[in-house]
Amino acid sequence: MNPVFPSILSTDYFDLEDKLRQFEKNKIDFIHLDVMDGHFVENISFGPAAVKAIKAKFKFKVDSHLMVSDPGRMIPWFAKAGSDWISIHIETGQTKEHIAAIKKNGAKAGLVLNPDSDIESVFPYLKDIDYVLLMSVYPGFGGQEFIASTLEKVSRLKKEIQRVGDCLIQVDGGVNLENAGALKAAGNDLFVIGTYLYGSGNIKQTLTEILNQIDGA
Ligand code: DX5
Ligand code: ZN
Repeated sequence: MNPVFPSILSTDYFDLEDKLRQFEKNKIDFIHLDVMDGHFVENISFGPAAVKAIKAKFKFKVDSHLMVSDPGRMIPWFAKAGSDWISIHIETGQTKEHIAAIKKNGAKAGLVLNPDSDIESVFPYLKDIDYVLLMSVYPGFGGQEFIASTLEKVSRLKKEIQRVGDCLIQVDGGVNLENAGALKAAGNDLFVIGTYLYGSGNIKQTLTEILNQIDGA
């Protein structure tokens, strides 16, 4: 599995298909869809129709990151639309029920932690989920600065996973060539990248450089 999960939140909607074609050519397996409801975060982004459209035209798996206040209501919508992975924020509560709902709807279950939430709060769920998404920016917008304390959270989480479970770690927000290697060395598995991919103007070269950093860490 390609560890780079491009986020399409920050791309120009009018050349989204071209970007997705380039990702396809460069052996990307997963697209990360940042779903925002304008309530849990101060932004509104994609609905289930975006999942359906991607799945209808491309072979990608879709990783839907639900930044929504009522994931219980929306999990079935995104699962039915074709999301292969669905992550929900621990800050929305009813975590056990929401993880069960994701699995009941046939998707892999991820638990998301905001930068200010304690890393220990996900520990009780490590055996029930497939991945933990650590936010390295405050959710709502792409193009923010990477929060460096995320590195220490990754290594603490990795130690606990090695002790009790086998779920993957995913980091999302401000990931770029400078921090990808350090994140891998700290124990990170999956890299959500948006702005940095689009800024370079050469997706193929940027992906190659990032993967070299990750493989070399
Ligand atoms: C924030 C979003 C972003 C996006 C990727 O709510 O989740 O983190 O996916 O961010 P950039 O554009 O910084 O890679
Ligand atoms: Zn995200």
